Amino acid sequence: MRDDPTQLTRRGFIAGTAAMSLAPLLPWSTAEAVGTTRSYELEARPTSVRLAKAPFPETRLWCYNGSTPGPELRIKRGETLRVVVRNALEEFTGVHWHGLRIGNEMDGVAFLTQPPIEPGETYTYEFTPPDAGTFWYHSHENALVQQDMGLFGPLIVEEESPPRVDRELVWVLDDWRLDETAQVVRDFDSVVDYSRSGRLGNTVTLNGRLDNVLRVRAGERVRLRLINSANARIFQLRFQAHQPTVIALDGQPVTPFQTAAVTLAPAQRADLMLDMSERPGERFLVLDTFYGQSPFRLAEIVYEDASPLRESPLDAPIRLADNVIAVPDLSNPLRKDVILEGGDLSLQRRRGSEGQQRGLSGLLLNGKFWAICGVSAFRQVMPPFVTVERGRTVIWTLKNWTAWPHTMHTHGHTFQVLAQAGRAPERRTLLDTIWLNPEEEATIAFVADNPGDWLFHCHMLSHAHAGMLATFRVS
Ligand code: C2O
Ligand code: CU
Repeated sequence: MRDDPTQLTRRGFIAGTAAMSLAPLLPWSTAEAVGTTRSYELEARPTSVRLAKAPFPETRLWCYNGSTPGPELRIKRGETLRVVVRNALEEFTGVHWHGLRIGNEMDGVAFLTQPPIEPGETYTYEFTPPDAGTFWYHSHENALVQQDMGLFGPLIVEEESPPRVDRELVWVLDDWRLDETAQVVRDFDSVVDYSRSGRLGNTVTLNGRLDNVLRVRAGERVRLRLINSANARIFQLRFQAHQPTVIALDGQPVTPFQTAAVTLAPAQRADLMLDMSERPGERFLVLDTFYGQSPFRLAEIVYEDASPLRESPLDAPIRLADNVIAVPDLSNPLRKDVILEGGDLSLQRRRGSEGQQRGLSGLLLNGKFWAICGVSAFRQVMPPFVTVERGRTVIWTLKNWTAWPHTMHTHGHTFQVLAQAGRAPERRTLLDTIWLNPEEEATIAFVADNPGDWLFHCHMLSHAHAGMLATFRVS
C-alpha cells in the first residue's frame, strides 16, 4: 500500500485541488503533492535509554522508535512527507510539526485539528512543507509530560540547492530532571515550575548524550542545525575560539551575521556555519553559558592530527535563498495588544502601576497561573481570542506583564518581528517562536493566510499547561 502510486497521486490530487480552489495565493498550493513522497514510521513507546553513565541505570523514557531525539525526518523542499504514527503509549497522543506552515488538519493538535491518536492506534500525516529549513516534531498532547519524557525529533527540509559545506550536523539540545537513580522526576505538577520559570532540568544532553566529541578536520566548513527541545531551558552556546555565522533562525534565512553566543529559547532553532580554522591536534569546548554560574559543557571539538583540508576558509556563498512567505501589508493591519499575565511575583509588581491587572485571583483559584488577554486556557480547544479574515495582515504587540521569560509560538504561521524592547531588529527576522524577557514587549506581523483554528502559546510547557495558551482563527 505504501508504494501504491495510484493512491499517492489521487491523494495528492485531492489535497492539491482543495488548496487551489480555496486560495490561489497560498504557499502550499504551489508545491503540489505530485512529486516524491518520503515515508517514515514513528512509534511512540516507553523505552529505556542510557542518559547517565554506568553505574547509573538506564532512564525510562517515552521515545519515537526507541531513541531520543527520535529519528531525523528529512526531505527536500517540494517533496511530500508522509509519517505513519503508531501510539504504543498508555495515553492518547498527537504529533505537531513545529514551524511548518502546513494545512490545519495536519497540525497535530488533538481535539483542535484532529482526533487524538488512541493507544494502539495509528494515524497518518501527509503534507508538503512550503519552506526549507530546520524544524522539529514533538508530541502536542499532554506535552508537558510527553515531550519532556522524550517524544520529539528533528525535521529537516533541505533547500533545492543548499550552500556548499563539508559536513552537516544536527544538534538537538535538551535537559532532563533526573533523580539519584537517573529516572525522570515525576513532579510535573510542581506549583513552582508552573508559576515561575518552568520545568528546568539538572542534566543537559546533546542528541540525547552527555559526552559529545566532535572530531573535525582543520579547514572544513560545517553547517550546524541547532534545535532547542527543552521544556523551559534557554541555551546560550559559546564555541571556544570559533565565531559561528548565523544563516537562519527558526528555519528562515537571515542575512548572515557572526556572533560570539547563540541564544535559543525553547522550540527555537538556528542554522550556523562554522569554519574549522584552528590547527590540527587542538581541542575546544562548546559551552552553554545562559545560566551564568553553572556553565554546561555541551561538546568538545577535537581537531584531527591531519593536514588541513584547505588553507583558508572555503570560498563559497552561505546566504540561503528566502522562503516564499507573504509580506505583511502594514497599511491596513488588524492590530491587537496581546497581554501575557500571571505567574508568581508579577501581581505585586503590577498592582497599582497599571490598574489593569485582571482576574488573577480568579486564575489562581482555578489552579491556573497564566493568561493571555485575561483568559486562562483549560484545554487546547477554546473560543479564539481573535478572529482574522484570511489574507489580512495582523500586527500583535506582545506585552509580557510578568516577571518571567516566555517563548511564544504561533501555529501555522511564521511572523516578522517588527520591534522588540523598543527597537527594530537589525535584520529582517522571521520566526515562529519569540522569546520575551520579563516585562518586555515585542511587535510581530504576519499575513493570516492559513485558514483554521490555530494555537498560540508559550513553549515553556509548564506555562502552556498552566493557562498560557490561546487559539486564533483565520476564517
Ligand atoms: Cu512546538 Cu504548539 O508547539
Ligand atoms: Cu511562558
